[in-house]
Amino acid sequence: MSHSEPQAAVGIASIGVQLPPLAMDMSELAQLRGADVNKYRHGLGCDVMALCPEGYGVVDLAVGAAKRALGRWRGDVSDIGLVSVGSESALDMSRPLSAWVASELGLRGNFRSYEVKHACYGGTLALRQAVEWKLANVQPGKAALVIATDVALYAEGDPGEPTQGAGAVAMIVEDGLVASIARASYPYSEPAFDFWRPVGCAFPLVEGPLSLDCYQRATAACYEQLLAGEAEPFARLMAYGAHCFHVPFPKMVKKAVSMLGQAFTLDEGQLTAFFEEKVQPSLAWNKQIGNAYTASLWISVADQLRRLAPGTIMTAFSYGSGFGAELFEITAGPECARGAWARDVESDLASRRLVKASEYTKLRSGERRVTASVPPAAAISA
Ligand code: HMG
Repeated sequence: MSHSEPQAAVGIASIGVQLPPLAMDMSELAQLRGADVNKYRHGLGCDVMALCPEGYGVVDLAVGAAKRALGRWRGDVSDIGLVSVGSESALDMSRPLSAWVASELGLRGNFRSYEVKHACYGGTLALRQAVEWKLANVQPGKAALVIATDVALYAEGDPGEPTQGAGAVAMIVEDGLVASIARASYPYSEPAFDFWRPVGCAFPLVEGPLSLDCYQRATAACYEQLLAGEAEPFARLMAYGAHCFHVPFPKMVKKAVSMLGQAFTLDEGQLTAFFEEKVQPSLAWNKQIGNAYTASLWISVADQLRRLAPGTIMTAFSYGSGFGAELFEITAGPECARGAWARDVESDLASRRLVKASEYTKLRSGERRVTASVPPAAAISA
């Protein structure tokens, strides 16, 4: 199960990651809010949250990630037949984020361009649609540029504040040189108000305990489909090279694993082995970044892929509030071991500046809220 012949089926041909240039350690936030830092570090599993400076946002992140993915791809931008951006940080109710990205990348011509929204699930939906578009061979020879980009901010003092973060992952969907994506997938959806952001609200409204419950139920429902009829669920879970999850905060993933323990009657030893060997290794970057909403799962997948031998099969579980979830298999491709995208993350983590609580408070008071986006005169005349 954990290995198959390396193949270049439809999947990810190149990955680029972009993180913002600022961050804040949890100790600063704990001091500011009069909280015990152990609650953030151990209770939630968060160490550092990525932050954007004034005037820097989802488009900068998306374009940075896209340039990195394109720069390492053997194709040419003229081979792109679809640009799709998954995000819940939309700048406009009408104009898709993909138009801002295309403008920055100088793209125009015969390609589809759109934005996908379903909370943190939007990036995965964009990827799944691109894979299905490629399998359908709608535009022979063309590739898709898929980007998951978000800036996660809660109201100051909100319980979600220590889980904030930001980042973007761009993936070129073509052959599976980096990773192939299985055609089969296991979705689950239920309408819920666990986390939502009404039009005009700068920050999300959250029913915290309900959101944890929804996430865990979705995990069980998706894995029950994957493992349907399996006599040895533990052996099957352990046969995968890794299991990646959406990471709103690392402790959430541990809760999801506990839910799988209940669903498949795993004992304590099995649960610990499953978490420590198959899940925990891919949480390292997320702990340093925070929740990047649509990008969080893909940051975890990118972290894990570089450690897998070509042909190894892993799973990806996506969750988006509202709520929708999907689980599917990913097979490490012949180029995954090079892990070229790790340089993006390592250089961004090394070069970012850690801000103190006072600077964070100042940043928040200037809040980067885009209420209306007026096209610059240059863009109209172009
Ligand atoms: P809270 O109420 O502040 O936290 O909010 P708590 O009191 O429940 O404590 C959290 C944990 O810290 C607990 O551990 C405490 O025991 C522990 P647990 O019982 O869970 O294992 N704790 C301590 N540990 C060590 N030392 C201490 C200490 N004190 C307490 N001194 C909550 C937590 C997650 C609700 C909040 O952060 C929140 O609202 N976050 C946003 C919502 C969220 O992330 N939900 C996750 C599922 S929904 C999702 O993933 C979708 C999402 O990404 C959005 C999208 O789809 O677009 C959010």
